[in-house]
Amino acid sequence: MLVIKKETYDEMSVEGAKIVAALIRKKPNAVIGFATGSTPLGLYKELIRLHKEEGLDFSKITTFNLDEYVGLRPEHPESYHYFMWNNLFKHVNADPRHIHIPMGMADDIDRFCEWYEEQIEEYGGIDLQILGIGANGHIAFNEPGSSLGSRTRIKTLTEETRKDNARFFNNNMDEVPKYAITMGIGTIMDAWELLLLASGSGKADAIKMTVEGPITAMVPATIVQMHQIATIIVDREAGAKLTGIYTG
Ligand code: GLP
Repeated sequence: MLVIKKETYDEMSVEGAKIVAALIRKKPNAVIGFATGSTPLGLYKELIRLHKEEGLDFSKITTFNLDEYVGLRPEHPESYHYFMWNNLFKHVNADPRHIHIPMGMADDIDRFCEWYEEQIEEYGGIDLQILGIGANGHIAFNEPGSSLGSRTRIKTLTEETRKDNARFFNNNMDEVPKYAITMGIGTIMDAWELLLLASGSGKADAIKMTVEGPITAMVPATIVQMHQIATIIVDREAGAKLTGIYTG
């Protein structure tokens, strides 16, 4: 596991974007797992810049997003479909036919989850999975206690996560979805390479546990320690509680 400590959010984002861009240049038809949340926004901004100014070509990539709220239509401004379209896909030349985001309105959610797993396999697996981290150490929507071998499925969100995300729903808890479809921890661990980003003091405890704590399902991100090619990039605040010596 490579841990890179950067000073600022922008430096963290640019460093992360370098890894994504290098993969796309090396393998134009790469399969990339994208994440939502505020953390990867800077990385996406930099990818858009690289596309517009340096011709980074997204036309052959395939994408799989980590998760989606159950019950939100793709047009809902807080759906992860809407997020990905507005913050990345509409600004680059990704082929909509190769974009996969869990369908929160699926009639048969269990069947949809099986299909999602099959699709990932059909495309040959995910080359690079981008991850954020929740304040409680969740990855995607795998909340504490999730099986470390889990696959794509429906999960109940914890109160903590719902409160953290209430700011996107007019701070009205009644509007915050209670369930999500999420790739499992096993699904994420099957990716060839992982890239986890964390920014801000709210993530310092989660990062301390993820990098220097014992592996436990109670802090799902700690499983990243078991991955063969994982990079964690933090800014100064998110890395403030780390005591080891890491790359700058
Ligand atoms: C949500 C997402 C996660 C994300 C987390 C942190 O729960 N499902 O994928 O990592 O939020 O979000 P943020 O980056 O906004 O702190």
